[in-house]
Amino acid sequence: MNFNSRIYVAGHTGMVGSAIIRALEAQGCSHIIKASSSSVDLRNQHQVQHLFNTHKPEYVFLAAAKVGGIHANNTLRADFLYDNLMIQSNVIHEAYRNNVKKLLFLGSSCIYPKQAPQPLREEYLLTAALEPTNEPYALAKIAGIKLCENYRLQYGCDFISVMPANLYGPNDTYHLQHAHVLPTLIRKCHEAKIKQQNTIELWGSGTPMREFLHVDDLAQACLFLMQQYSNVQHINVGTGIEISIAELAQTVANIVGYTGSFYYNSNMPDGTMRKVMDSSKLQSLGWHAQISLSEGIKNVYDQYIKGEAVKAM
Ligand SMILES: NC(=O)c1ccc[n+]([C@@H]2O[C@H](COP(=O)([O-])OP(=O)(O)OC[C@H]3O[C@@H](n4cnc5c(N)ncnc54)[C@H](OP(=O)(O)O)[C@@H]3O)[C@@H](O)[C@H]2O)c1
Repeated sequence: MNFNSRIYVAGHTGMVGSAIIRALEAQGCSHIIKASSSSVDLRNQHQVQHLFNTHKPEYVFLAAAKVGGIHANNTLRADFLYDNLMIQSNVIHEAYRNNVKKLLFLGSSCIYPKQAPQPLREEYLLTAALEPTNEPYALAKIAGIKLCENYRLQYGCDFISVMPANLYGPNDTYHLQHAHVLPTLIRKCHEAKIKQQNTIELWGSGTPMREFLHVDDLAQACLFLMQQYSNVQHINVGTGIEISIAELAQTVANIVGYTGSFYYNSNMPDGTMRKVMDSSKLQSLGWHAQISLSEGIKNVYDQYIKGEAVKAM
C-alpha cells in the first residue's frame, strides 16, 4: 500500500476505525476517505455504490459493523445478522466492482467454535458449533471471511480477513450494561476510589483466562498485514499473553489507585474458562504487539479521567 493512495476506512468513528485513522495519519496518509453512518448507511446498496463511484478508493479497511455485548447480541439477534451481512456484502462487492487493490475485513474471535481447543488456531474455523448467545453475529463474521476468500478464489481479489483478540483503548464504551470487562473494571475501580468504597463485587470466580490487545497495536497490525499478507486464510491478531480476571482486576486497581478488595460472586457465571488466540502465524511474519497491558491501561485511564476518547457513559 502506498501512503498516497486513496484509502477508505469504513467505520472510522468506531474504536477500531479511529485507531486505523490515527495509524494512517501518523504515516502521512493524506487521502483518507471517511463517511459516517448518517451520510452513508452501509446496509444500503445504492448508497455504497455511490460512495465507491464518487471516491474510487484503492484500499479499504472494513471496520464498520454492528457491535455489542452479550445482552445486545442475544436480544437483537436478527439485527446483528442482517446489519452485518448487509454492510460487509455491500462493501466487499463494491470493492470487487471498483477494482480495489486490497481490502482488509475485520472479524472477531467469536467466529471460533464454543468448544474449540485453546489457544484458538485459524484452522479451528467451522469445526464445531458456535456459542449460541452470539451465533448470529459470529455467522455474519464467518460469511465475511468467506466473501473475502471466495472473491479471491473466483475473481482474484486481494481481500484478507483479520481476527483480533479482545480489544481495549481509546473510544471504548464504559456503559455499565454494555461495556467489556476491562472498561467495566476501570469504571468500577475509579468510582469505588472516589466513593471510598472498600469492596467491589465482580461476577464469577476471577479465574478465567483472557487476552487483551490495545487497539493501537491492532491498527499497526492492520497496516502491516495490508502490506505484507495476501492469503486466502484469515489471520489472528493477539499478544499471546494471558491474564486471569482476578489479576486483571488487581492490575487495574493498582493503576487507578483503588485500595479496597474484590468480592468474587461465584454464583454468577464465569463464561469460557480460557479464551486466547494463537497468533503464531502473524508473529512468524515478524509482527509483535508493542503496548504492554499495564502501559495501555495507564493511557486509557488517563483519558478516562479527562473524559477524552470515552464512548457511552
Ligand atoms: N471492540 C472489540 O473488542 C473488538 C474485538 C474484536 C473485533 N472487533 C471488530 O472490529 C470491528 C469494529 O469494531 P469497533 O469496536 O470499532 O466497533 P464500534 O466502536 O461500535 O464502531 C462501529 C463502526 O461501524 C459503523 N457502522 C455501524 N453500522 C453502520 C452502518 N449501518 N452504516 C455505516 N457505518 C456503520 C459505526 O458508525 P457510526 O458511529 O456512524 O454509527 C462505527 O464507526 C468489528 O468488525 C468488530 O467485530 C472489535
